[in-house]
Order: sequence, then structure tokens, then C-alpha cells
Amino acid sequence: MKKMKFLHSLKFRLFLILVVVGILPNIILRAGILKTYESRAVSNRSIDILSQAKMIGNQIITYNYIQDTSSEVINTQLELLSNIYDGRVLIINSGFQVVKDTYGLDTGKTIISEEVVKSFRGEEISKYDAEYRYIEMTIPLKDSNTKEVQGIMLVSVSTDSILSNYDYLKNNALVIEIANAIVILAAALFCANHLLKPFGRMTHSLEEIQTGYGEEQLMISDYAETEAISDAFNQMLGRMRVIDESRQEFVSNVSHELKTPLTSMKVLADSLLDQEDVPAELYKEFMGDIAEEIERENKIINDLLSLVKMDKSAGNLNISVVNVNELLETIMKRLRPIAEKQNIELVLESFRPVSAEIDEVKISLALTNLVENAIKYNKPEGWVHVSLNADHKYFFIRVEDSGIGIPEEALEHIYERFYRVDKSHSREIGGTGLGLAITRNAVLMHRGAIKAHSKEGEGTIFTVRIPLTYIA
Ligand SMILES: Nc1ncnc2c1ncn2[C@@H]1O[C@H](COP(=O)(O)OP(=O)(O)OP(=O)(O)O)[C@@H](O)[C@H]1O
Ligand SMILES: [Mg+2]
Repeated sequence: MKKMKFLHSLKFRLFLILVVVGILPNIILRAGILKTYESRAVSNRSIDILSQAKMIGNQIITYNYIQDTSSEVINTQLELLSNIYDGRVLIINSGFQVVKDTYGLDTGKTIISEEVVKSFRGEEISKYDAEYRYIEMTIPLKDSNTKEVQGIMLVSVSTDSILSNYDYLKNNALVIEIANAIVILAAALFCANHLLKPFGRMTHSLEEIQTGYGEEQLMISDYAETEAISDAFNQMLGRMRVIDESRQEFVSNVSHELKTPLTSMKVLADSLLDQEDVPAELYKEFMGDIAEEIERENKIINDLLSLVKMDKSAGNLNISVVNVNELLETIMKRLRPIAEKQNIELVLESFRPVSAEIDEVKISLALTNLVENAIKYNKPEGWVHVSLNADHKYFFIRVEDSGIGIPEEALEHIYERFYRVDKSHSREIGGTGLGLAITRNAVLMHRGAIKAHSKEGEGTIFTVRIPLTYIA
């Protein structure tokens, strides 16, 4: 497993590339140089021998050596030639008969080979046999006047000396190459390790950040790439910290809100228990207060549950075609008694019939809270105007009131859970600050939008826009 991982690592790939780039050219170069060396050496040797042989060939003609091989001068020269080049020289006459063999083996024998025949026609042939390591040259001996071929000089020399040089060179090159390869391997290993060090440090840093939850940031600025990764990671870390903070805040808010009614109940119950001979009226009054607190606790829990449900089942809407005019009328009817208690005028204005694909329960919850807020945060003898309109894509609901308004700096917070502008006033009215969070969630789940405009002391307008057809 670990081995497989190593083969897939960037370090290994980099190492491989460096090795290939470093060693391959060497191998090619060595092979190329050796090959050229061999052919150059052979061709140089051939040229040397040819010029020597031709010189002797001229003398052979001059001394009429083919007819009479007793010339000491020529014999010595032929011996010299074959000794220097470690070879053998044969002189053949026009009858294909060997008149001189420096080895003394074939004198008097007849040789008819393809080369010899060709040479009698005037051709000069030079042949290298790499396998048996010799050069063979067939040189016609021509009369300088008549240009007539009088005989053949057949020279064959061993190339052992060339090849031993070649082998020596080859072995040397191999040693150099191996030494080179070792150096390159070491250098590649070092480079791969060194170049990828920042990534190792990055992993280490990330592990440290993971264990602690402090203010650490990732900063590996060795390369532009690692810097970009660090930046992106820090941004993500920042977002996660914000989420974590808001989660902690939410939990502490929830516990606080849930504890408040319980504390009230405890105080009420204790004061009844501490007194003796409590009059029945006081019992009744206190029990009524306790019932109210229970009601409040119940509302908070219900609101929290609807919020959690919306968070969890985003997209899990129960969509059906709903008559929005009727829905609004029902909501207004339900809230009218509360409005009448405070002498607040409640008006619904529908500009056209609207049917939309929505989750009826959730949208009803959202709109109820908007109208309820408009009543709750109003002035005595005030008014609430609700209007419904639509175009070909959306329907619009506007809830306007003549109430206390929302201060400008509070407007951006009203959708936060448990946020209330005036805590004491809201408590009195019985708000927990969850209503608008629920409203906004419900609207967003329908891919709609919600906006608030307000002037302190004058009133507030909430506008909601929701698509007529549901977009999954
Ligand atoms: N129409 C409005 N006029 C003035 N202030 C408003 C209005 N609507 C909301 N607010 C302010 O925004 C705060 C948040 O409203 P939200 O509906 O979320 O909570 P709530 O009404 O206090 O409690 P809940 O709706 O959970 O019973 C309110 O406490 C109030 O201060
Ligand atoms: Mg509310």
C-alpha cells in the first residue's frame, strides 16, 4: 500500500524525470561516438593501406615483379606492409595464379573469386568485415602506358588493433557513464527531495492547524503555487471559524432562551411554596403566569423545530398548486382578533388571482410571522396593509405597517436567530427573535427573495418575491 503510494507520488515522478533527462542523452551520446569512432578508424586505415599498396603496385609494374618475383626491394616492401598492418599480401597474375604470398602458404595456387574477377576488369574493391574483423582490398595492377591490368594485389589486414582501441574506449565510456549515472541519481534524489520540501511542510502545518483550533494560518510561500493553496486554505479556514462561532452563539442563545421561562416558573412556584395560607386568588394568578411561561417555552421549542426542519430538509418541500389569495385571507382571518385587541386596522388588497407552486405550510408560516410582526410592533390605532400582486414569473407580497419601525443599523440583523431590536419590548410582546429567521429560510427554499424598508417611528415595509413555478 505504502509502496503504491510512493510510486504515485510527485517526488517519485520528479525523480524519474530528472534521471531520464540526465542519463538518456549520455547513453545516446556514447553509442553515437563509439559508432563513429569505429567507422572513422576503419576508413582511415583503408586509405593508409591503399596509398601504400598503390605505391608498391607501381614498383611491381616497373620491376616486372609479376613475371619475376625475385626482386629483393619489392619483397622487403611487401613484408614491411604486411608486418606493419598485421596482414597478408597476395600478388595474383593474369592467370589467376598466386605468384607471391607474404605468408608463403598459397604460392602457386589459383584464386578465382568475385572480387578478383572484377578487379581484372579494372575495379578497385575495399571491403570491411566487422564480424571477422578484417579489411580486404583488391587492387588491380595496371601498366602505366597501356592501362592494361597485369595482375592483382590482394591485401587483407586485421582490424584487431582498431577494435581493441574501440573496446578500450567503450569500457572507459561505460565507467564514466556509470559514475555519471550515480552522480545524476544522487542529484535527482536531492532535487526531488529539496523541491518538494514545501509540500511536506504544508502537510505538517495542516496537521498542526487541525489539532489546535487557534488563530494559526497556513503560510508556505516558497512557490506561487503553495502560496495560492495557502491563501485558499486560509479563506476556507476563516469561513469555518465564522461558522463555528455562529454555531456556538446559537447554542448559547438557545439554552438561554429555553432557561428564561423555566426560571420564571421556578420563581413563581417557589414563592407560592414559601408562603403559608396562600389565598386562592393568588394561587390562581400565579398558576396563570406559570401556564403563560409554559406556553412561551412551547412556542420557542416549536419555532426551533421548524427552523431545524427547514435547515435539514432544504429542497425537501411539499410542493402543490396553492391559491395564494385564499391563503392570505386565511392568515388575515386568524390574526384579526389580535389586531382588533390593539385597535389596528388590517387590510388585504389582492390585485389579481394568484396560483403558485409552493409549500403551503412553510409559506403560511412565513407570511403569518410578517403580518404578526406588523401588528405586534405597531402603535395603538395603527394600520397594516397587505397586498398581493404577480407578473408572468413571480408573485409579490407586501406587508406595510404604521408601526415603530426598525433602526437602520438593526436592519441587517433582523433575520438572525434570536435577534430582537429592543429585547425588553419584544419580551413584553412575547417575541423570541426566531420568526424572521424562519420566514427568510422558507422564502429562500422557494428561490425567492425578501427585503425590508423601514423608518424609525414611521413604519416598516417587507416585500417578498416568490417564483410562480417551483424550480427544483
Ligand atoms: N414590522 C416590524 N416593525 C418593527 N420591528 C420589527 C418588525 N418586524 C420585526 N421587527 C424587529 O425584528 C425583530 C425580529 O423579528 P422576529 O419576527 O424574528 O422576532 P420576534 O417577532 O421578536 O419573535 P417571534 O417572531 O419569534 O415570535 C423583532 O424582535 C423586532 O424588534
Ligand atoms: Mg415575529
